[in-house]
Amino acid sequence: MLHTALCDLVGIDVPVVQAGMSIFTSPALAAAVSNAGGLGSLGAWQRPVEQLRRDVAELSDSTEQPFALNHVVPDLDYIGFELTLEAAPAVVSFALDDAGELMKKAHDVGSLVMQQVTTVQQAEVAVDHGADIIVAQGAEAGGYGGSVATLALVPQVVDAVRPVPVLAAGGIADGRGVAAALVLGAAGVNLGTRFLASEESPVGHIWKRAILTSASETWVQLDFFNDLRPNPGALGYGTRVRALRTAFTDAWQQRRDEISADPTPALTELATAATEGKLEELVVVGGQSAGLIGELLPAADIVRMLESEAESILSNAPTLVV
Ligand SMILES: Cc1cc2nc3c(=O)[nH]c(=O)nc-3n(C[C@H](O)[C@H](O)[C@H](O)COP(=O)(O)O)c2cc1C
Repeated sequence: MLHTALCDLVGIDVPVVQAGMSIFTSPALAAAVSNAGGLGSLGAWQRPVEQLRRDVAELSDSTEQPFALNHVVPDLDYIGFELTLEAAPAVVSFALDDAGELMKKAHDVGSLVMQQVTTVQQAEVAVDHGADIIVAQGAEAGGYGGSVATLALVPQVVDAVRPVPVLAAGGIADGRGVAAALVLGAAGVNLGTRFLASEESPVGHIWKRAILTSASETWVQLDFFNDLRPNPGALGYGTRVRALRTAFTDAWQQRRDEISADPTPALTELATAATEGKLEELVVVGGQSAGLIGELLPAADIVRMLESEAESILSNAPTLVV
């Protein structure tokens, strides 16, 4: 059995967190992960407040186990955050800027605070402000990320914030990645892309198929999206989105000057695709770990697979030392 400080702190069996990924998470996905012994997360960002209310209620009804509610700090919906405080989940997680004063509010209702960072300095600030758990997110990650790779970032963050538990995020999709993270000193992992390609994931079939079939090198960090509409982490944490190369992204990545002068044509292309239900043909967000993912699985099977593979690797590790 894998067991780390994260398991004791949060009250979970398996040190695997399904990342809060805005509206690309659902009560069914989060509950499946929590019921399998990991920590499921529901993303609050971009979720209309009434939907968030219903989804938090559904998640609470679907699991007796701990779960996390996730917020994006620079674009916080204060009413949604109040809802989170009322729900008082085991963990309130934050990303894309330091949660600062919000951490105290979460602590006041008895929740633990998890802060995602992309540099050592951000981790130190978060811990000064009271974060209980740090997610060190490497540049391989899907979604908005920084520039330092997971392998370099995690041990530095572990050293900087010890004894605060650190989760590794970015580029992890199997038990080898989990084992490596633990060897780097992490107390667990936070996975996004792997859980997007799960049966319970609410994203569409084009998105899931892209994760199952596209090589790691086709998932790239795209600067032009910040020219188009700066992501909420662009100013503070300096993040860029990692997504699949498509005809749309290839075309506009070459035409950043045009977008800076006038973003309307690219935004119109996106709006038209959204109206026609074809947005996934233009923009598919995910990380380099997609290259490791070949099968659509129930989320509980993913948690079990990650655990059993990591256990077996770590059990055999002593044979490497002669
Ligand atoms: C589609 C997508 C949306 C995301 N949205 C959020 C978010 O709203 N809040 C957050 O804390 N992290 C978000 N993330 C980042 C994840 O928390 C996590 O760090 C990342 O997915 C880990 O890398 P991986 O995709 O290689 O597993 C998102 C990731 C993806 C792929």
